[in-house]
Amino acid sequence: MTKKSKKEISREVGLEVGSICGKYFLKLDHLHYGYWNGGLDVDITNLHTAQDKYAEFAISHIPDGVKTILDVGCGTGQIAKMLIDAGYKVDCVSPSDYMNRHIRELLGDKSRIFECTYEEIETTNKYDMIWFCESFQYIDPEKALSNTIELLNDGGYLFICDIFRRDTKNKGLMGGGHDINKFHDLVEQTPFKLIENKDITEQTAPNMDLMNDILHNVVRPVVNAGMRLSESRYPMVVKFLKWKYRKKMDKLGNKYFSGGRSGEDFKKFKTYQLLLYQKQAL
Ligand SMILES: C[S@@+](CC[C@H](N)C(=O)[O-])C[C@H]1O[C@@H](n2cnc3c(N)ncnc32)[C@H](O)[C@@H]1O
Repeated sequence: MTKKSKKEISREVGLEVGSICGKYFLKLDHLHYGYWNGGLDVDITNLHTAQDKYAEFAISHIPDGVKTILDVGCGTGQIAKMLIDAGYKVDCVSPSDYMNRHIRELLGDKSRIFECTYEEIETTNKYDMIWFCESFQYIDPEKALSNTIELLNDGGYLFICDIFRRDTKNKGLMGGGHDINKFHDLVEQTPFKLIENKDITEQTAPNMDLMNDILHNVVRPVVNAGMRLSESRYPMVVKFLKWKYRKKMDKLGNKYFSGGRSGEDFKKFKTYQLLLYQKQAL
């Protein structure tokens, strides 16, 4: 594997921390957003149910005839397990050493795991479907499409369920997602034909309200308490560090605690799309 960039490492660590905390505190199995519909109360105790609904919703879009699937960015491996249990032959791509230990335990020898990024995958295998569940946003879109063309059987499917960025003047404070218009332009130049598209922004936006609530009611008070404790023990050191890193701290405070991260903001700046394409013969 090539050396990871700082951005890639911080994303990976973020996902790892999310997975550890989600598993420990909320018994979460998945690493994707929840799908909030059917009057399910937007409450952290329902996130487990909402994530299961998301997985069921995604899986229900697999067309008849698909037998082999490559799950790219398979997270905890939980969706791969659901797919295997449903009778599909599934391989996985996962660049995270931490996740890979868990995926191996979960899937045993039922699945081949490519322990690399999708950009770096090397195989002569071919699949009926390449599956990106909330992982497409992390992958270079041009490379993702060209690798997918290579790895798909003729008539095979590209499945993406993920966040994209709307083309707005103001970009908002939330990161993540490729530009939706640029992505559509890119796909136009490939042999992929869109056969299904569902906009699930409305059903996924509540996840941001939950995250926002945790940031304001858990993270911020815990950080403040830690600061108070450190200031009382090491006043000069904390004064120096606050001065030295004032710009970074202001930037972080502005990004995470100044508002702008609610479900309503998500709907303004992002769009969550299920996209199913079929590869046409060249
Ligand atoms: C938000 S998680 C989604 C996990 C899983 N698909 C799910 O639905 O629960 C994003 C996943 O993408 C993976 N990922 C990040 N960058 C990647 C890359 N360049 N190539 C392949 N996978 C990548 C991460 O390791 C992680 O497993």
